[in-house]
Amino acid sequence: MSKDDVKEDRRQHKSAVTKDRRRFLVAATSIIGAAGILGVAVPFVKSWNPSAKAKAAGASVKINLSKLEPGQQIIYEWRGKPIYVVRRTPEMLKRLEDDDSKLRDPLSKKSDQPAYAKNEFRSRNKEFFIVIGICTHLGCAPKYYPEVQPMYFDESWQGGYHCPCHGSKFDLAGRVYKGVPAPTNLVIPPYMFIDKFIVVIGEDGGSDNA
Ligand code: FES
Repeated sequence: MSKDDVKEDRRQHKSAVTKDRRRFLVAATSIIGAAGILGVAVPFVKSWNPSAKAKAAGASVKINLSKLEPGQQIIYEWRGKPIYVVRRTPEMLKRLEDDDSKLRDPLSKKSDQPAYAKNEFRSRNKEFFIVIGICTHLGCAPKYYPEVQPMYFDESWQGGYHCPCHGSKFDLAGRVYKGVPAPTNLVIPPYMFIDKFIVVIGEDGGSDNA
């Protein structure tokens, strides 16, 4: 074999190695890419919930309330509406049993709620208050002020909701105060507990009773 033949032989070998290496890199990248997609797909399946479209159309929403601290509020969305969920303390519940002479509809006779929430706590399980966070006056979002303390909108505030748009006030059961623009209590959505801390918003098991 001449010197030139040896050179040519080496060049061809090097070229073949480079091609094989490139093929390997392409294959490896594809595998990593597939794993990346799988990595995204698995948590998505685990945290499955109705799509935004399904929720807007009325699908129910399942919520785990076990991490909600006493006195804390969290907000979820159901049918495009904010759903406020509060874990009321025994002291908050006690306040609801006190004087209700300042309320317009304390027994919720003229307000909108399922039958199982037509009580002074306006709930199925009095520890958890579940309500649609839309003011019954013109639809603003009332703000949650749970503390008993003088507020700029009420010197003797006992905790509840205040609507920033026109000043309507509601207690910790969403019951409207007298002398404010909102005509009725905040609306309670249908819901049911399927476990101690698991609630489904939008379904009540076909029963309107507790
Ligand atoms: S919208 Fe709440 S007071 Fe008017």
